[in-house]
Amino acid sequence: MNKIAAPKGTGDIYFPEIGKWQYLEDKIRNYFSRFLYKEIRTPIFEHSELFSRGIGSETDVVQKEMYTFQDKAGRSLTLRPENTASVVRAAIENNLFNEMFPLRFFYIGPMFRYEKPQKGRMRQFHQFGIEVFADKSARVDAEVIYAAFNFLKEIHLCGTEVEISSVGCGQCRPGFLEKLKTAAKEQEKELCGECQRRIETNPLRIFDCKNESCIKISAAFPKMIEHLCGECDTHFAELQTALQVLKVEYKINPRIVRGLDYYTKTAFEITSNQLGAQNAVLGGGRYDNLSNELGGPDIVGTGFAAGMERIILHLQDIDRKQRKTILVAYQNPALLDHALRLCETLWSSGIHAYMEYDAKNLKKQFKKGDRISADYTFILGDEELQHNTISVKDMKAREQITIKQEDLEQWLKTNI
Ligand code: HAM
Repeated sequence: MNKIAAPKGTGDIYFPEIGKWQYLEDKIRNYFSRFLYKEIRTPIFEHSELFSRGIGSETDVVQKEMYTFQDKAGRSLTLRPENTASVVRAAIENNLFNEMFPLRFFYIGPMFRYEKPQKGRMRQFHQFGIEVFADKSARVDAEVIYAAFNFLKEIHLCGTEVEISSVGCGQCRPGFLEKLKTAAKEQEKELCGECQRRIETNPLRIFDCKNESCIKISAAFPKMIEHLCGECDTHFAELQTALQVLKVEYKINPRIVRGLDYYTKTAFEITSNQLGAQNAVLGGGRYDNLSNELGGPDIVGTGFAAGMERIILHLQDIDRKQRKTILVAYQNPALLDHALRLCETLWSSGIHAYMEYDAKNLKKQFKKGDRISADYTFILGDEELQHNTISVKDMKAREQITIKQEDLEQWLKTNI
């Protein structure tokens, strides 16, 4: 029979790699509660319309990357390619905008995009992210950037750089887009086919093209931050002042346009020079109209999401082993149930213990002890049974002592 492989762009996560994931997830939960974020879990699939309306029908994500299918009742459903639209949908649907305070959510979970897989780019990947609602201030954007930047610092991800920009608003962006289109049309023949198409459909995305020649040509195009209306300009200035107060070093990068259409005003990315081609660790920004566009109240929002695979690739090896482990070994099979009883005593005291059930001799059991990195081996033999004792071998010091069964509790308290 043919073997069945996991679908392209997906992967299995297991020991010891899983330790890094658990470490990262614990860190996220602890860290973001510092800023009063509460976890939210939304469905893995949603009505396709949520994403076409929320993210924008002309974006690459919606045009090319969504896993969309019909269910048995003919509904169009999509595996979520991101979670911001889902969080907004959930907040509207569950009346959270009225009922919760503060309106701060964090999430951790899988997302799905049909992209060309490469190192750090998957078709099923994982994001963690935060979303804050109902605060127009640029200071909350700065706080979000600070929380993201400082998190990466706390997990020792090095070589990070914060890049910020403003993508304007409904007041200033349309006029700017006309200017951009005019400039792009003048150079149309020089641009790649994709960018030529973008002139009409989504001209801002020209700044995101990876083609060397398009990058050079678009360097001379007008930039959004030079055409902000008064309100957006003030907001961008306030963002920078607040970042300085929070001691976040940043660079203004007017080419940041983000791949999702819901952004207004603040847009930002954090990159790491350790990540190679897929160097974006996280991205986010403000989305003041998304709730409205999804049929909800006029509630503004801001947040970010980070790619967990990219972070995991560069996490130092984590020693997840916090508790000491005991191997319970027996000299001959007649002692199996005595060993099992001893194991039960350890498990019920919350101690990490392991025994082999079909080991022929002690040597084989010791070998298994090495594989589970046992700190101690408890050895039960006929002699130990007769005297009500346990032989305790310290696997690192290679020393062995004998303790009385009645002293076990005290020994565990002192040594484990
Ligand atoms: P995004 O920039 O599309 O933003 O994705 C955020 C991060 O997810 C990226 O910086 C990257 O690290 C990771 N990522 C994206 N695609 C992949 C992939 N195929 N494989 C591995 N990692 C990937 C959003 O998703 C917005 N919802 C962020 C946001 C939240 N904006 C406001 N609030």
